[in-house]
Amino acid sequence: VPPPIIAPSILAADFSRLAEEARAVEGAADWLHVDVMDNHFVPNLTIGLPVVQSLIKTTTLPFDVHLMIEAPERWSIGYAEAGAYNVTFHVEATDDPVALAKSLRAAGSRAGLAIDRGTPVEPYLELLPHFDTLLIMTIKAGFGGQAFLPEMLDKVRTARRHASSGHLELRVEVDGGIAADTIEAAADAGADAFVAGTAVYGAADPAAAIRALRQAVSR
Ligand code: DX5
Ligand code: ZN
Repeated sequence: VPPPIIAPSILAADFSRLAEEARAVEGAADWLHVDVMDNHFVPNLTIGLPVVQSLIKTTTLPFDVHLMIEAPERWSIGYAEAGAYNVTFHVEATDDPVALAKSLRAAGSRAGLAIDRGTPVEPYLELLPHFDTLLIMTIKAGFGGQAFLPEMLDKVRTARRHASSGHLELRVEVDGGIAADTIEAAADAGADAFVAGTAVYGAADPAAAIRALRQAVSR
């Protein structure tokens, strides 16, 4: 089992000081989780490619881009070309997830598939060899600060079981409501990448909050 990934989400950071907020978690975080929302796929709007192209130059952290947008085939490659480590799009937003995964890998990025709260995982298990990351929402996508939904962990268990039996190298990432009191349950279910917005950037010391989360899942 590879060591766990802790990915603070800048959705909970101060958007007027993104570079400083990224720097505040360098050395503590594994990835920087960047939530891109278009006010169509989800009813919220954040940042897009120009901001990511600028921000990515200010930090050594690998970017974990989470696209909550319609027509991800139109935008994903731009994030890969900007240097994102991993680009994740939603299965609900595209008709040909495998083609997009292949283009992302060809463009030099890892490919991630996200499934929202209402979407089952079973129909997509056969696609997983084309992906490096499976992001399972543990809230409904769109906003930070929502309560963790433990019933989503059945999807994590199903995905992890499938990945293990198929010897897939797959990060199973959970996103939404991850904090000191929920991260262990997600890890027990088989998650090995953990997004945390409020629990990191809502803390007085974001780097210490990341260390505490890591401690909770280091076994
Ligand atoms: C919401 C985003 C999450 C968000 C999580 O749709 O995908 O990454 O930042 O925020 P918390 O950790 O506060 O639930
Ligand atoms: Zn996210």
